[in-house]
Amino acid sequence: MQGLRKDMNPAAGPASAPTTAPTTAPTTEPASAYATAAGEPGDSGASTDARPTPATAEAPATAEPPAVREALAAGAAVAGSPGSDTHVAAAAPSGAVGGLPAPPTASVAPVVATSTIPAAKPVIGDEEVAAAVRVLRDGRVVQGPEVAAFEQEFAALVEGRPCVAVNSGTSALHLALLALGIGPGDEVVVPSFSFAATANAVRLAGAEPVFAEVDPDTFCLDPDAAAEAVGPRTAALMPVHLYGHPAPMGRLTQLAQRHGLALIEDACQAHAAQLHGRPVGTFGDAACFSFYPTKNMHTLEGGLVVVPDEERARTLRLLRNQGMEQRYENEIVGANMRMTDVAAAIGRVQLERLAEWTQQRRRNARTLDLGLDAGLVAPRVADGARHVYHQYTVRVRGGAAVRDAVQARLRAEGIGCAVYYPTPIHRLRPYAHLGAELPVTDRAAAEVLSLPVHPSLTPGDLDQIVAAANRAVAEAGGTR
Ligand SMILES: Cc1ncc(COP(=O)(O)O)c(C=O)c1O
Repeated sequence: MQGLRKDMNPAAGPASAPTTAPTTAPTTEPASAYATAAGEPGDSGASTDARPTPATAEAPATAEPPAVREALAAGAAVAGSPGSDTHVAAAAPSGAVGGLPAPPTASVAPVVATSTIPAAKPVIGDEEVAAAVRVLRDGRVVQGPEVAAFEQEFAALVEGRPCVAVNSGTSALHLALLALGIGPGDEVVVPSFSFAATANAVRLAGAEPVFAEVDPDTFCLDPDAAAEAVGPRTAALMPVHLYGHPAPMGRLTQLAQRHGLALIEDACQAHAAQLHGRPVGTFGDAACFSFYPTKNMHTLEGGLVVVPDEERARTLRLLRNQGMEQRYENEIVGANMRMTDVAAAIGRVQLERLAEWTQQRRRNARTLDLGLDAGLVAPRVADGARHVYHQYTVRVRGGAAVRDAVQARLRAEGIGCAVYYPTPIHRLRPYAHLGAELPVTDRAAAEVLSLPVHPSLTPGDLDQIVAAANRAVAEAGGTR
């Protein structure tokens, strides 16, 4: 990986400081906007919700293929790949965390689920299907006109900043780091309480993550802890807008400026979140979004980098496409991280409904806030933050054993719920040797539980979730 990154580093090639960057983005990239067979072999991603509108229609009972129906019945999120962030394994307790004792096997009363409310419900409705078919019939299926249009339309969410679409959120983070010249010898301060992709991208770029604590209320990077983590090799800060709550970008921007650090927003979970009226994605030197199926909007798989200027956008476009802007005129070493037009066309459909879905998520969260008992600590929202509830994540008072019992009980009642993240990144195998000590993070990992909040929930679903969660915490002996 080090070798890969070194080659790909734009600082090593003529594109590191492009002086002749075009001022407008090309609408297509001739190097790749030709027809190819679309898609990678392997998982089909996610099962889908065929309901046309979350507010009005009921889910068809048998919309999912059999394997997925089974997963849903087990309370699993609707993901096909175990490599995905919000894939949820079957209802096993999540195990010991951070040196805390392993939870006892939860004693679950024999409740038979009469219906299932999944943890997430990616929408692939008629419009998404029609958009995909339109592209397939058109034949321009890789990084063609749909991708260019998607980038332009997404820019409306980030005050018109240049957007560069790629094939995943991880690729977005990886390329953002490369485009900022971050690589071997550099350190990047990241929260450990996130999906592994946050730190993996740093490693893939050849740099080293340095883990810092999160705020115990919002679960986002704590600026004081980040300041302590800054050292002579620190090149960047990479806060995560976790669960859809914006990180404290004001203080983090000051910290970055004080030390001359790059600031990269991991906005993979936070489409349309805001802080003091300013959209996430507009604070950093780069910001990265994911369009994985369970995200607030999706493209099946996909990602996107937002940057403040066209020069950096050009570097990113080169990096995602073998260093080419014109076909066979490779300027630097790059990868193939292109988005397909099928993905982009689906993303354009989703983008049109993002505002409505976000409102619905926020309304659902409010209902849950009001209904949950004190044994479950509802998500806190910082002053000025617009939380978009990618996840509705409570703390279960009483620790991991109680949390796991609540989770098991909910799943037995057919309510999909999940722990993001049961093992903080600093305790995962690739990073454990760094020896980070993060008690606030460990505690969060032992106590969090995400309840369904997606826009397909009906009022009846919400009532069921509230009642079951309150019952589960009372039975599990959660403290008040
Ligand atoms: C915080 C965070 N960062 C990065 C990623 C990576 O995105 P993707 O799965 O699209 O590669 C995810 C996605 O799940 C995420 O939740």
